[in-house]
Amino acid sequence: MSDHYEQLVEIAQALVAPGKGILAIDESSGTIKKRFDSVNVENIEANRLDYRSMMLTAPGLGEHISGAILFDETIRQSLPDGTPLVKLMEQAGILPGIKVDAGAKPLAGFEGEKVTEGLDGLRERLAEYAKLGAKFAKWRAVITIGEDIPSRACIDANAHALARYAALCQEAGIVPIVEPEVLMDGNHDLDTSFDVTEATLKALFAQLYDQNVMLEGTVLKASMVISGSEASDRAGVEDVAEATVDCLLNAVPAATAGVVFLSGGQGDVEATAHLDAMNKMGDMPWPLSFSYGRALQAGCLKTWAADPKGNREKAQKVLLHRARMNGLAALGEWSEEEEDA
Ligand code: 13P
Repeated sequence: MSDHYEQLVEIAQALVAPGKGILAIDESSGTIKKRFDSVNVENIEANRLDYRSMMLTAPGLGEHISGAILFDETIRQSLPDGTPLVKLMEQAGILPGIKVDAGAKPLAGFEGEKVTEGLDGLRERLAEYAKLGAKFAKWRAVITIGEDIPSRACIDANAHALARYAALCQEAGIVPIVEPEVLMDGNHDLDTSFDVTEATLKALFAQLYDQNVMLEGTVLKASMVISGSEASDRAGVEDVAEATVDCLLNAVPAATAGVVFLSGGQGDVEATAHLDAMNKMGDMPWPLSFSYGRALQAGCLKTWAADPKGNREKAQKVLLHRARMNGLAALGEWSEEEEDA
């Protein structure tokens, strides 16, 4: 094995180390504005730095969080005392990651569907991010369920772009997180979510194979198989866990370093309960963990926003609690009692 190969495998394994998962704080400029608007915080750089550095300096965060995904602005930021955030993360034992896609844009010729852009110039951007300290990257594709969608064209275009991105990451010594998110929006049932997720994952892994992506140095960021958020009779925790594991077993090669889930609009405790139920099902071919954005941050953001200076420690505690709960869920050791303790 070459050093390059070993280095990728080592990073990928560290990201899904037992009882650890990923903190997604890579909201784009538009998304962080939405989050800040919801708690009446002005969306200016100083506030974004204050909020994100508050999370990254939560004492002991590295016990449950292996890595954090940053936005381009964040990976370049430093604390007022001059310490780069990336340095601070290294000290906390948290691997720096970077979102590198340029967002999901309308797919020409396919109404209501999207394809993620950002491959142009990606080799050069990855080289720069590697210099800035990034050890892993993220690219998110969006698959929408609706009447007669997703189309084959949408699934294939997104799978192709994800694999091209992943190959470029590995060339740069950066572990790719490949994220084909099947959206929860809509009133579809669990079976539909299963079929779309399975087709999406199979297309993705076929492309990763064709484009020589090394799976041992790749992490899958998956959406759970779950009822649509507006479905009338939504599936319960056990059904979601079983369907998700079934789907992954059908479509994800065992060589893949690990699977981390996005929360995609699930409630905080709901996302934890689902992950825990999957891990309670017993041994899997890959570690199953989390890479939550909203489900880790929601409570913390609310607490911080109520009084950014005065509530700093309180907000950190809220984040630490959610990180610890999800760390337990990644081991299948979470319980309602732990939640309330
Ligand atoms: P959510 O957990 O809020 O879905 O965000 C995860 C993420 O990084 C989506 O790309």
